[in-house]
Amino acid sequence: MSVDRDFSVISPAVQWPIAQVEQVHLGVMASGNGSNLEAIVSAIACKQLKAKIEVLIYNQPEARVAQRAERWGIPTVLLDHRAFPSREMLDAAIIQTLLQSDVEWVIMAGWMRRVTEVLIDAFPQRILNIHPSLLPSFSGIRAVEQALQAGVKISGCTVHLVELAVDSGPIIMQAAVPVLPEDTAVTLQARIQQQEHQIYPQAIALAAQQIYS
Ligand code: GAR
Repeated sequence: MSVDRDFSVISPAVQWPIAQVEQVHLGVMASGNGSNLEAIVSAIACKQLKAKIEVLIYNQPEARVAQRAERWGIPTVLLDHRAFPSREMLDAAIIQTLLQSDVEWVIMAGWMRRVTEVLIDAFPQRILNIHPSLLPSFSGIRAVEQALQAGVKISGCTVHLVELAVDSGPIIMQAAVPVLPEDTAVTLQARIQQQEHQIYPQAIALAAQQIYS
């Protein structure tokens, strides 16, 4: 007898699109592939999210996210962390770029560097991060592998306001997915990322309106 698997997710209980009065000016920080940037840009293009991405800051010269941004006409700025003597000095350069670009909200979309209070103090309660686990479980690097190793049966993703400790701060939105017996890090990450792409634009709209619960 074959058993149909239920791939349903626990979806956030918000109505999408979310009514927004003002357009929000975003600065995106990313280090890698950029699928979350693409999801945010798509939500803007579909008029679900009322926002403009003013700048993409990236730190890895070869990161695919830069090509994606350029295709959408988004200005890009490479700030290679290796060129800065300290995390604080990198953050100071990030702040300068964000302010020059009139950014109101900072969106970390796969930014794989720790930030300092220099950046957090410059944008208090205005920095969002997405993480591929149901925080507070499995913070830090290799979150998907951590979940597999722990043997959890449900994992997911979290969008939260950024505080100083890694992957900490008030949670804006989460989505859950099943972990299947045959999952590898690749298959579980793909399932989680599908949900990231759904919730990140929604979480930005909620956060911009200070709707945190
Ligand atoms: C995302 O899965 C995001 O949750 C993760 O990096 C990936 C970036 O993917 N972020 C972290 O692990 C931060 N702690 P993308 O480049 O395709 O958007």
